[in-house]
Amino acid sequence: MAQLWGGRFTKETDKLVYNFNASIGFDQKFYKQDIEGSIAHVIMLGRQGILTKEESNQIVDCLCSIRADVENGVLEISDEYEDIHSFVEATLIDRLGDVGKKLHTGRSRNDQVALDMRLYTRLQVLETDDLLKELLETILKIMEENVDTIMPGFTHLQKAQPITLAHHMGAYFEMFKRDRSRLHDIYVRMNYCPLGSGALAGTTYPLDRELTAELMGFYGPTLNSMDGVSDRDYLIEFLSAASTIMMHLSRFSEEVIIWNSNEYQFVEIDDAYSTGSSIMPQKKNPDIAELVRGKTGRVYGALMSLLTTMKGIPLAYNKDMQEDKELSFDAMDTVKGCIALFNGMLATMKFNKERMYASANGGFTNATDAADYLVNHGVPFRDAHGIIGQLVLYCIDQKKAIDELSLEELKAISPVFEADIYDAISMETCVSKRLTIGAPGQEAMKKVIEEERAYLNEDWDIDDEYKIR
Ligand code: ARG
Repeated sequence: MAQLWGGRFTKETDKLVYNFNASIGFDQKFYKQDIEGSIAHVIMLGRQGILTKEESNQIVDCLCSIRADVENGVLEISDEYEDIHSFVEATLIDRLGDVGKKLHTGRSRNDQVALDMRLYTRLQVLETDDLLKELLETILKIMEENVDTIMPGFTHLQKAQPITLAHHMGAYFEMFKRDRSRLHDIYVRMNYCPLGSGALAGTTYPLDRELTAELMGFYGPTLNSMDGVSDRDYLIEFLSAASTIMMHLSRFSEEVIIWNSNEYQFVEIDDAYSTGSSIMPQKKNPDIAELVRGKTGRVYGALMSLLTTMKGIPLAYNKDMQEDKELSFDAMDTVKGCIALFNGMLATMKFNKERMYASANGGFTNATDAADYLVNHGVPFRDAHGIIGQLVLYCIDQKKAIDELSLEELKAISPVFEADIYDAISMETCVSKRLTIGAPGQEAMKKVIEEERAYLNEDWDIDDEYKIR
């Protein structure tokens, strides 16, 4: 048990209390950010004359060596310390002696931890964004290759109208594009530095908060020290964006699972991304998609947990806020893992174009177009709808598709039908006539694909802003 604050205590902390209170088991995850923050703090203390240049340089060098030693496995983060901040400071004092004791001048663990979590979350925003961009590349490639791949579009999981695979994929492209834009918004809003807020009321030292903010790639310092130490809005926003990403991935996974089922066989998941059964030799299961769908709940859980933790906390710092870490870390790793795995599965998945076409063709997906045919020949839409309804009933009875009926059979239901009906309701016509922007028709689709390609090429690269070393 090693603590920074023993002075006013006359008794040892109870062991159970110590363990309950300690956070080193999980906050060591941001040791790099903790050291990064300390380096910036000490450089600033040196420039402001609060420490001598020499003291400042010595501490910076030693912090760099501690970071390198942790990275190389020479130095193990020991859980006999209360938290990562104590571990780094104690190691510094151990290596440097009295000079090391000056590190924490003009700083509290409250602004320190607020900074560390913000730096760590900012990195997650960037890494999640990179992964989403890779996923969008995969989706766009599938779109470019499948402008003519006809499949049924569904509502209520019932075949509705023919679309293309490019069009279906394009819906997910839009979703993940919005997810990226949410991350960009969060980045811009969160990128202010809480260091220098002290415990809650700033400090009496002449700190240069602009300098530390700039050294760590922030736009500037936060403007209220009480808010600086107790704001976790950015993390709630990130968990909310992560939850939305997971919701989108989960919907997509659900579709992959349905498409991969024996009944549909629209897709085949690559062997490398499926698993077998221990008892049923014929099985090839879509476990990755199921896990992504299943893990969504964990990320929602982290969001609900933090919202609940924060709702009753008076200003400023309270220990409840230590609970912002474990579930958030889990959610961050989960969302990144899920995007990467889903991307791998999607990039290697085979689409069974014949099955998709046959499914679209066999499910009366051209019934709307058959009604439109009648409308174009002067029948009011409501009457046309009724006539085609009767036609579908007849087809079900005869076990035939609309275009398998003879012209006589069609005319028996409505004399308006002529020989050109067959062309008017072919799958190809149904798709290619849908030309308004956003629709599956090839010409409309190609324009959208061009725009999406330009978005991926020219897109604001958040990486250029700043990336933690
Ligand atoms: N482990 C603490 C946390 O995560 C660090 C801040 C401790 N501050 C304090 N006043 N006890 O929030």
